[in-house]
Amino acid sequence: MDLNSFVITTMLSIAILAPIAAMYAVSLIRKGKYKKHIRIQKTIFWICIVAVLLFEVYIRISGGSGSLIKESIYTDTNFFKLILRLHIGGAILTYLLWIAMVIISSRKYKMAKKLPGSFSKAHKSLGYLVIFGLFYTAITALIVCVFAFLL
Ligand code: HEM
Repeated sequence: MDLNSFVITTMLSIAILAPIAAMYAVSLIRKGKYKKHIRIQKTIFWICIVAVLLFEVYIRISGGSGSLIKESIYTDTNFFKLILRLHIGGAILTYLLWIAMVIISSRKYKMAKKLPGSFSKAHKSLGYLVIFGLFYTAITALIVCVFAFLL
């Protein structure tokens, strides 16, 4: 396996595992295991943030946006460009929301040792929205990779 394939397979695996692990961490709330919920959510968050930053650096070193997929016959088609934009746009929105949500939740929890009333509802809605975004990011990444490397 060459370096490009290794980097892309690793990123794709992380993207697919993240929402599944986040769902598992949510299931712990129903069992009252709040500390474990927080620990796992923070771990998933940091693994993904570090992986995406390293991936960005790798893309820049490899020649900038589009350089990893330039071999594909689909790269210049409008259909592929649309899917790539939908993937990148959704991923950026999800990560921005995720960053804000983790920072605010951590601060509120540190102050009160729980999530205060009104924010508890917001945390739940934002949490499910972030998980939806993570699934969206993983599925669109998979579609991009299928067109770029398999078809
Ligand atoms: C890292 C900081 C986090 C803290 C301090 C935290 C804390 C908590 C606490 C104390 C609860 C249960 C009490 C309540 O609802 O008021 C909760 C529930 C929940 N959390 Fe988190 N959490 C964090 C991160 C996340 C992340 C990153 C997600 C999603 C990606 C998430 C998704 C959820 C969901 C969906 C629920 C509601 C579960 C349910 O009742 O169905 N949390 N969180």
